Amino acid sequence: MLDNKNKKTQILIIDLGSQYTQIIRRSLRYLSFHSTILSPQKSLEWIKKNKPKGVILSGGSASVYNRNAPEIPKEILDLNIPILGICYGMQWLAYINDKNSVHKAKEGKSYGPVKITLEKSKLFEKLPKKINAWSSHGDSVRRASAGFRVIATSRNGQVIEAMEAIYRRLYTVQFHPEVEQTEDENIILNNFAVKICNCKQDYFKKDVIAEIQNKTRELLGNGVAIIGVSGGVDSTTLATILAPVLGKQLKAFLIDTGGMRKDEIEKVKEIAQKAKINLKIITEYKHKFVKKISMTIDAEEKRMFFREIYGEVFREVAKSYNATHMIQGTLATDLIESGSGGESMLIKTHHNVNLNLDLKEIMPLSDFFKFEVREMARLFGLDELLINRQPFPGPGLFLRVVGVPVTSELLEIVREADDEVKKILEKHKIYDKISQTIVALLGVNTVGVKGDGRVYGYSLVVRTVETVDFMTIKGFYLQKEVCEEITSTLVKHPKIVRVFFDWTSKPPATTEFE
Ligand code: XMP
Repeated sequence: MLDNKNKKTQILIIDLGSQYTQIIRRSLRYLSFHSTILSPQKSLEWIKKNKPKGVILSGGSASVYNRNAPEIPKEILDLNIPILGICYGMQWLAYINDKNSVHKAKEGKSYGPVKITLEKSKLFEKLPKKINAWSSHGDSVRRASAGFRVIATSRNGQVIEAMEAIYRRLYTVQFHPEVEQTEDENIILNNFAVKICNCKQDYFKKDVIAEIQNKTRELLGNGVAIIGVSGGVDSTTLATILAPVLGKQLKAFLIDTGGMRKDEIEKVKEIAQKAKINLKIITEYKHKFVKKISMTIDAEEKRMFFREIYGEVFREVAKSYNATHMIQGTLATDLIESGSGGESMLIKTHHNVNLNLDLKEIMPLSDFFKFEVREMARLFGLDELLINRQPFPGPGLFLRVVGVPVTSELLEIVREADDEVKKILEKHKIYDKISQTIVALLGVNTVGVKGDGRVYGYSLVVRTVETVDFMTIKGFYLQKEVCEEITSTLVKHPKIVRVFFDWTSKPPATTEFE
């Protein structure tokens, strides 16, 4: 939403349904290039009108053989604009040149790290001969069609990983150069932008805050906006950035959902005071949240119930202020995973996406990822304590009682456990190195022995992860002594028999359990 009217977008990203489309944009931003994301349907007209210097075709979950595969207008190939096809984008470029060049996957997708050997190409300048890359695809390209040259392979040359047809200005990669697991330091996208498309840097961090303030001001006009502040980095940073420019037109509030972390309300009050946000605390819906969500153990249904009551509270607050607008700290990740970010598929229903209130919604952070919001907070001089807080999901501890109905008692167990684990990680000076720590209760009874007696109780699972953007994550492995200390602390609770540690990457596992 922050496309500055005066700036010409240099690269168009055509969204073919990849979970990583926004990450392509984020990586270009990191390299200081403006870009725009559009659906294939809107792309041709836009390209003709705006004449970008390059086009990137994102990946996507479809197969070129699907009847409902995204339809990319073939005319884009005749405009003499450099095109980089990533994953599905590569398969499409291969397929339209040679119908037999794409091998249809028999079942499932192959994803994970892959060692790639690079040949000489403008796309790979300044890179070593071999790099580790991240691949996530079903179909694959089995041969280079006429005019294309293979420029990267894996598995001893057996798998084609990249191709180019320089006279047609077409470049393709099967792996994902945009994600951090591809160890190219963004050089491939930079080479495409600079060496192939001749783009000039035009996006600078210091302009971002002023752009957010101006654009929000403009969208709000004379209206009144409500903003839910959770104490997390996103909503608090946003409220802090906007408070000075919106003044009394901004009404900030915090909902105590009953699923908050230990001492959360007090901490948020303190943060708001420091950031000069006038914050109203709403506590009367707490029991309603617990009662309603306890009616199901299904992850999506729990999220829907949470969202329902969350929306109800928002409606009440809006009415009390005669609000016209609602400002949300929704990030790119939330939109992508809720299936609202362009063409990507639903992974989870996020509590604050598409609430459909009778208010105009402004989402000033919807293009950004967590680490970028942290950078803004720093530029705006916010407290490091807030900036470095690990993220916490809106539906909170409700997502961390898994497999059994939530009760106040079980919420209390995870709340205490979360706090104990945090203290241990801080004591060992590793809390700040971990992107997020999740402590969840697994509602499966297992047998244990405490004292001289048999117990039949629940388990807790501790998940520590590292990531930049939460679209992909790696496990953050804890040392034996830390695991032992966490285990012995958590099993002190009479109902907890075992403690598990979970370091599964995303994909396939998401950060949260539900
Ligand atoms: P997943 O589990 O999707 O989580 O890998 C990615 C990041 O988003 C947080 N998360 C949420 N945040 N509302 C939020 O505000 C939600 O409904 C929600 N679900 C997940 C999660 O904690 C992680 O930081």
